[in-house]
This record gives sequence, C-alpha cells and structure tokens, in this order.
Amino acid sequence: MAKKGSILVCDDEEIMRDVIGTLLSGAGYRVELARTGEQALEKYSESAFDLVLMDVSMPGMGGLTALEELMKIDAEAVVLMITAFATFDTAISAWEKGAHGVIRKPFKNEQIVSMVARGIKKRRKEEERQTLRQVMSRSVKRDAIVGRSQKMEDVFRMVERVAPARSTVLVTGESGTGKELLAKAIHEASPRTDNPFVVVNCTNFPSDLLESELFGHTKGAFTGAVAAKKGLFQVADTGTIFLDEIGDLRPEMQVKLLRVIQEREFTPVGETEPSSVDVRIIAATNVDLKEAVRSGAFREDLYYRLSVVPIELPSLRERPEDVLPLAQHFIRKYNEENAREISENLSPEVLSLLENYYYPGNVRELENIIERAVVIAASDEITVDCLRPEVRDPEIARATLQKAEGASGDFDIARGINFYDEVKRFEIDLIRRALDQTGGHQSRAARLLGLNATTLNSKIKSYNIPART
Ligand SMILES: Nc1ncnc2c1ncn2[C@@H]1O[C@H](COP(=O)(O)OP(=O)(O)OP(=O)(O)O)[C@@H](O)[C@H]1O
Ligand SMILES: [Mg+2]
Repeated sequence: MAKKGSILVCDDEEIMRDVIGTLLSGAGYRVELARTGEQALEKYSESAFDLVLMDVSMPGMGGLTALEELMKIDAEAVVLMITAFATFDTAISAWEKGAHGVIRKPFKNEQIVSMVARGIKKRRKEEERQTLRQVMSRSVKRDAIVGRSQKMEDVFRMVERVAPARSTVLVTGESGTGKELLAKAIHEASPRTDNPFVVVNCTNFPSDLLESELFGHTKGAFTGAVAAKKGLFQVADTGTIFLDEIGDLRPEMQVKLLRVIQEREFTPVGETEPSSVDVRIIAATNVDLKEAVRSGAFREDLYYRLSVVPIELPSLRERPEDVLPLAQHFIRKYNEENAREISENLSPEVLSLLENYYYPGNVRELENIIERAVVIAASDEITVDCLRPEVRDPEIARATLQKAEGASGDFDIARGINFYDEVKRFEIDLIRRALDQTGGHQSRAARLLGLNATTLNSKIKSYNIPART
C-alpha cells in the first residue's frame, strides 16, 4: 500500500520518538526518527519530508534554531513544534520562524494525528499550487464568502445575476480581497457547477509555454513535445476557466485570447485546424487595466471583451463591518486546523484594533493575523498581545508611515482609503521589514504579511525593493 506521506520526528527523548513514531506509522505514514536538530537537518537535506515534528527543547541546537535552519533548506517545509513549555514567546518565535503549528505536551494521540493530516494536506496543496495546471475539485459554496457589508451584498447580487449566463467576467480588487474565491463562487452558482473549474495563473510564463498550456499541442510540435497534450481550454470545456493576473498577459497571448473570446475557438500549437470549445472565462487582476490600456501594455479591444461584466471587490478597509464576521470565520477555521478552542467572542479592545487596522493585504492579511493569534494564544481567548505589533499599536503603523513620508504626515489610518501613494509607501516599508525579519526569505515574508508569494514577488519587483545582502 502506498504510504500517506513521509514524516520526520525529531526529539531527544527516546520514549517520545517511540510513541510518536509508532503512532504515525500505525496511521500509515513513513516515519523517520532523529535524535538531534543537527541530525534532522542532515536527513532533511538528503530528502525532503512531507512534514516534520520537532521538539522545542533539545540539547545542542535547540528546536527553534533547527526550525530556522530547516526553513532555509526548504521554505515550504511544514513543521509542527512540540513543547511542554508553551510559553507565549516560544509560540511567537516558532510562528515567526515559519512553523505550521505548535503542539503542547501533554498531547492527545488524536490531536497529533489530526494536525499531521492537516499539515500533509497543506503540503500537498502547496505542491499543487506550484504547478501551472490546477484543476479545482474542491467545491466552494456561496456561504464560503463571508461578508455582510452593503458593498459585499452588492457583490453577491452581481454574482447571482451573472452566474447563470456565459458572459465573461472581470474581477478586480487589491491583493487578498478574495478574487479567486469569488471566481469559484460564480462557477459554483452557475449551471456549469458540475463541470471543470480550471485555474491558470498568467504571471511569469514565457508566452510559448503558456500558449501550449492553454491551447495544447500536437506530438512533435516543438522540441520536447513527445506526446500530444490537451490544453487547459479543452480541459475546461463545458466548465469555467479562471485566468488570474490577466494584466501580466504578454501581447502575443492577448491577441490569441481575444480570438478565443470572439470566436470560441483556438488552434493548438502545431495544429492547422482550429478547435472549438464551450468555456466560460473569468479573468482577474489587481493592476489597473484601464491604466495599462492607456500606457499601451494591454490591448483595448481585449479589455472591452473581458470587462463585459466587471466586478470590483472592495478593499477590507472600505468595509470594516466585515472584519468581525470574517475574524470569527477564520477563528473557526484555525481552531479546527490546530485543534484549539479559542473563543469567537472578541474583546471590545481586540475588535476595535482589528477594525481600525489598515490591511494592506486585505482579507488574506486578516486571515493571517487570526491564524497567528489562534496558534499563539496562551488561553482560550485572543488577547491584544496575540496581535501583530502594527495591528496592536496604531502608533507603530502611523510612525512607520510618517517616517516614510517625511515629517509632514497627518495620515489617518482609519480613513486612509484615499491616499494611494501613502499606502504604497506604507506597503514598501512593511515589505522591507518583513524581509528583514525573515532574512530576505520571500515566501516566509509573504506569509508574515499575509500576501501570496507571487504577489509579494511582483510587488518587490514593481517597487524596486533591493534584495538584502
Ligand atoms: N469574503 C471572504 N470570506 C472568506 N474568506 C475570504 C474572503 N475573501 C478572501 N478570503 C480568503 O482570503 C484569502 C485570499 O483570497 P483570494 O486568494 O481569493 O484573494 P485574491 O484577491 O485572489 O488575492 P491575490 O490578488 O493576492 O491573488 C483566501 O484564503 C480566501 O479564502
Ligand atoms: Mg488571487
């Protein structure tokens, strides 16, 4: 029988290694044991594991240092720290060094098994995300989108109206506002719901590669095309294709996409005859496409074709009334993931800090803030000190911003919506600090900021933030 995944258990105490090792092999995992942090690192560099369980206090290199070193070897490593002294500081530093979770001793067997299962699931998802092709099978119900503000109500109404048709939808909004989630919701609410939903990220793919991914190719169409391959448009036939980061589409591909939209047909690479498909297109972008049209980077005709139905997702700071229901939604999610029982009732103090924070990374950032708070909370309640410094103390955010602005800032965090430039500067500063904190590690920094790694990378490029040396 194929094993469910590989796990490295690192603990200096033999009895702990035995207990956990036996438990997890019994649950169907391939388990290896390490006695020290050094040994764990050695084993991990020989072959990566799907998940690592690491004791915090060990003689020699402690668990936290080992964790730090491990993240350098594999930034996507999934590590669960085990500790008898679940102090606040330990939990915070484990979290900030990139641990996926903290398990407190004494633990229940079921707790380890369920956290491991979730950790492995996350690892698999990450692996899937790394590949260009991603056929979504996970179903998203309309109630997966949380929001009760008028602005989100308007969005929901739009979804209901456009879902039944085949019209192309353009979803815009800042990073982390839920564009992908919305695209899935439209698909789910449409008659195509039982057919494929295919996600394509248009960023950073050389045009020729993207072309054959989207449209397929014949055998021998180019060097390396040893067999014919279906394109994603064919995979998505009768379903929906989600073209993410459409603003990054190169000009050659823009022409080809325009043709698909107009004629509902395309020609696979190496083929002479066009194929036709029945696909609904949903595109998304966080760049200002109108501006891209003005500057000549994006074709105007394509822009009009795509934006038949435009839906703009409001930033989180424009809808503070959604902060509470979202926070509660994420507390439930991360309680389950971390086998914790943190209360969904937020103290007025915590709620007010959350509602007044600025959220450059929008809902994704709030999700990250809550995840962190759920993991590090010392009791069953989220307290102010579980929040990140810039959330906890508006002065920190304000000071950062004013420093960036030169002495003249009278920026109001709560009403900052209109100050696009300030937002940028604020963001640059946050990114710099996150990079500093993570030793220049982009995917770690992205996680701290609540951005996805691709988004962070494109921000770093567009803001010209120098790499750390
Ligand atoms: N209204 C919402 N209710 C529940 N979860 C949400 C909501 N909006 C966003 N999320 C969650 O926030 C995270 C970011 O959402 P998503 O990936 O859809 O954002 P995005 O706009 O595509 O971001 P980016 O531009 O960075 O790709 C996801 O984990 C998503 O599930
Ligand atoms: Mg997205």
